[in-house]
Amino acid sequence: SVDVRDLGGRPVIIGGGIAGLMTALQLAPEPVLLLSRSQLGADASSAWAQGGLAASLGGDDEPALHLADTLAAGDGLCDAQAARRIVYAAPAAIADLARLGVRFDRTPAGALRLGLEAAHSRRRIVHAGGDGSGREVMRALVAAVRSMPTIEVVEGIEARRLTVEDGRVTGVLASSSTGPVFFATGRVVLATGGIGGLFHDTTNPLGSCGQGLALAARAGAVLADLEFIQFHPTALDGPGRPMPLISEAVRGEGAVIVDETGRRFLDGVRGAELAPRDVVARAVWRHLADGHRVFLDVREKPGATFALQFPTIASACSKAGINPARDLIPIRPAQHYHMGGVAVDLAGRTSIPGLWACGEVASTGLHGANRLASNSLTEAVVCARGVAESVAGSSEGGGKRAMAPDLPAPDPRPVRPLLSLALGVTRDGEGLKEAARALLPLLQQHDAASDPAVVGLMIAVAALLRRESRGAHFRTDFPHQAAVARRSQTTLDAAIAAG
Ligand code: SIN
Repeated sequence: SVDVRDLGGRPVIIGGGIAGLMTALQLAPEPVLLLSRSQLGADASSAWAQGGLAASLGGDDEPALHLADTLAAGDGLCDAQAARRIVYAAPAAIADLARLGVRFDRTPAGALRLGLEAAHSRRRIVHAGGDGSGREVMRALVAAVRSMPTIEVVEGIEARRLTVEDGRVTGVLASSSTGPVFFATGRVVLATGGIGGLFHDTTNPLGSCGQGLALAARAGAVLADLEFIQFHPTALDGPGRPMPLISEAVRGEGAVIVDETGRRFLDGVRGAELAPRDVVARAVWRHLADGHRVFLDVREKPGATFALQFPTIASACSKAGINPARDLIPIRPAQHYHMGGVAVDLAGRTSIPGLWACGEVASTGLHGANRLASNSLTEAVVCARGVAESVAGSSEGGGKRAMAPDLPAPDPRPVRPLLSLALGVTRDGEGLKEAARALLPLLQQHDAASDPAVVGLMIAVAALLRRESRGAHFRTDFPHQAAVARRSQTTLDAAIAAG
């Protein structure tokens, strides 16, 4: 039987990464319930972020420059209004985090140390612990949440379905070790992160399987720009899964990409190693496909300071038996971030009243077709404030109806090979159609694979319908960019009809 909990008007936040924690903190002292799949911070991809947070804080920088870089990297597809709002609010977001106890890296004089990453025209990446930025932000936010008496945290619980009555959200059906629980609430925030677990080669925790996208899609929400999946060009190429990330900040400090002959094959590309991430990922991908091996060379730059500046990466190399002071580091592109997500407005509202989304699961339009490095944590922190204000200003009641028995945990394994093959760095119509054909029956079986299949099908259909190449979406059968950039929107019903 289902344990029904009436939250008495409290909102529920699903997800314990930076977006979820910040939303909870911004809502305080309004009481809120936060659901986390595991112990807070244990499997959130936020904690793995190396690159930090982008904000125009340098003396030579200003929000207009950050905006221009974001729009250029986004390859014509950004929502300029959303991008403007977020990058202009970024410096205040960094100040919010510092107030919450985040210990950012500083110069001896106490100023924030600013790093450079690809496609940024200025040094504007704020770091913590060198390459341990996400870990440090999570440490501080988890501590702040734990000390806030109005935030109730339930750990070891997974949301399985949203209930919707008369077009409004009325509750969350979740699965815990003691069985199914129904939380009756009219206000739900999705902060569930990304989709890396749906790919074989990913830098994300494997538990990130697009659960929030499936929840929203099954509830009938509109999803946007799903075909835009970012591949990071420099994942450490070895047997380990997820693949260890080698931050773009390493290239920002001068590391170069070479092949087995020592040739810097990105030489001819505008921006070379610091070109937008989609451009570098495609160049590396093609060089590998041509039979080469590809490496990152850190021996000259950053050189002797590498291990000090990037302790997490140095340790990953050492575990793989690589000594970066002497050896080249083998790399290949890996799935890293999803630009698409649940379509939201500037307040994080989805198309369903009572449902908000924040962080990677949401599509604000900031990232366009290719996210600018280190804009994602910034987006999560900035948008959490807007979401909290909007949630606080709304007073939806919950439903009493509990649905269904316990639902199985999503199993991405049947879906992973299909998406890895059809939705990689390059795509083509035939491959996408085949993936859609294979995903449809999985979705209809209503078993553990069906949520990952919902997400996979919607992505495959969105990629099939975008008959152009733009940003991270490269179609070998449509290699050119359309004259007019259009964001895409879809629902589950539309994807099933098209699939
Ligand atoms: C990186 O450190 O290269 C990743 C940063 C990001 O994904 O924004």
